[in-house]
Amino acid sequence: MTFVVTENCIKCKYQDCVEVCPVDCFYEGPNFLVINPDECIDCALCEPECPANAIFSEDELPKGQEKFLELNTELSAIWPNITQIGERPADAAEWDGKPNKLALLER
Ligand code: SF4
Ligand code: F3S
Repeated sequence: MTFVVTENCIKCKYQDCVEVCPVDCFYEGPNFLVINPDECIDCALCEPECPANAIFSEDELPKGQEKFLELNTELSAIWPNITQIGERPADAAEWDGKPNKLALLER
């Protein structure tokens, strides 16, 4: 079992999640973070920390977000590890809750 970062993280990238992860299994792209499903120990600590409510258990993924499990697997294999909160995007709040952000994902 793993937790999964979903679409609303894109362009919000608040990074509060990385501060609480006991196994440092977050990986950072230009405007999105992902979890490595093989490293996640399913502790659930990160889920309530995300201001954008973008983190879900894999068995509770909202409708339409199922594809993000595969995306977390794929991108965590190629993106660098992140363990400390960095600078948040200045316009993060403006993007929180916007639909159809997947097309804006930068790799
Ligand atoms: Fe890390 Fe726990 Fe979140 Fe998994 S559920 S990503 S181990 S904080
Ligand atoms: Fe993204 Fe939420 Fe973490 S917006 S970077 S999953 S705190």
